[in-house]
Amino acid sequence: MEKKVDDFRLKFGKHELVPIMIGGMGVDISTSDLALEAARLGGVGHISDAMLPTVSDRRYDTCFVKTKLQQYKLNIDNSDKSSVKFDLGHIAESTRLHVSKTMERKRGSGMIFINCMEKLTMNSPRETLRVRLQEALSAGVDGITLAAGLHLGSFGLMEDHPRFRDAKLGIIVSSLRALQLFLRKNVKTNRLPDYVVVEGPLAGGHLGFGMDWAQYDLRTITNEIHQYLRAEKLDIPVIPAGGIFTGSDATTFLQEGASAVQVATRFTVVKECGLPPDVQQEYFKASEDDIEVNGTSPTGYPMRMLKSSPSTGSGIRPGCESYGYLLDANGRCEYIESYNREVAAHPGEKKIAVYDKTCLCTHMRNFKCWTCGQMTYRLKDTTRKLADGSYQSLTTEHVFKDYQFSTGNKIALPD
Ligand SMILES: Cc1cc2nc3c(=O)[nH]c(=O)nc-3n(C[C@H](O)[C@H](O)[C@H](O)COP(=O)(O)O)c2cc1C
Repeated sequence: MEKKVDDFRLKFGKHELVPIMIGGMGVDISTSDLALEAARLGGVGHISDAMLPTVSDRRYDTCFVKTKLQQYKLNIDNSDKSSVKFDLGHIAESTRLHVSKTMERKRGSGMIFINCMEKLTMNSPRETLRVRLQEALSAGVDGITLAAGLHLGSFGLMEDHPRFRDAKLGIIVSSLRALQLFLRKNVKTNRLPDYVVVEGPLAGGHLGFGMDWAQYDLRTITNEIHQYLRAEKLDIPVIPAGGIFTGSDATTFLQEGASAVQVATRFTVVKECGLPPDVQQEYFKASEDDIEVNGTSPTGYPMRMLKSSPSTGSGIRPGCESYGYLLDANGRCEYIESYNREVAAHPGEKKIAVYDKTCLCTHMRNFKCWTCGQMTYRLKDTTRKLADGSYQSLTTEHVFKDYQFSTGNKIALPD
């Protein structure tokens, strides 16, 4: 009999889960509601720790962004942003709010993890990251996934926390080498990751590859990692991600030794996802030619997105006084440099265009940078087209169960 995802279980000690993990999607694209559904259905959901002060303002009526802007508004016209710092107390409070309010609502046997975007350097990488990690643990999250941009010292930043050995801690890597580096660096914490997500080149968001991403293949990298872990007698669950679009795709990875799969793209068009409905329609409509990997993220990592994203070419003033999540340890962001270059080249012009870099904080926060997985062009095949030409929105439960139970590469359409 042909196997399906539900014939397998992800095991963390005695805890058994449906081996489907919905990946983190910042900024609040993987909402609490989405993660809670995954947990209710027995799998793993992620919330994201990207830009939590602004997420908290929107969801829990705080005013962290306004307070920060008030404090730094005199700096708005200054191209030097090094003085713009985050209040660590505010970061702590927003993390605590988002995690605890999510965990309070958790039902079912699954788990909720937080995706920690280590590349959000926030003009003080070590201190801000420590606060985010520690507060997520204190607020009771089931686990933390350290996302690409891997900060090799992150386990060290949590080592003194009482939950360091009981919370599930995992890492995302895109190569065996990255995994080896992490393991070597973390020997002294005497704690292995509880799982390793292997993210291949077809994923959404930032990629752990260069612009030569197309030369890599998820299956090959996953197999290399399986072989290495076996040779080293390391029993760490391996969770492939990126382009796993049907239950059958997932089952094949599980049969080859994966402990679970991480998926995201198919959940970008469910009603519990944070993307506004009109943006979801753009995802449904996209064809393969509408999707590109480009270098416009100021992080320096390639990012996949819809070419028609409103962020493309947008020359808005850098919003660092309100946001500033990508400021490096010296208060620099590549977008600021591009913006200043264009302002200098077009004196007196009110509206300028910037094409080489994008103001990612502002645009992600406003759902104007439409990052997506390579398989987005297949989303139209997962639903029905309505009489008015739009596509029917899906539910998390429908998509989750389709992954869990489908066979024969089939995709169940909604009722
Ligand atoms: C819209 C979108 C946003 C994403 N944002 C993040 C993120 O903030 N952090 C992260 O580690 N991965 C992010 N990802 C990657 C996913 O968590 C996941 O690993 C990957 O997309 C899985 O491949 P799939 O989308 O083909 O299923 C994002 C993916 C999408 C589609």
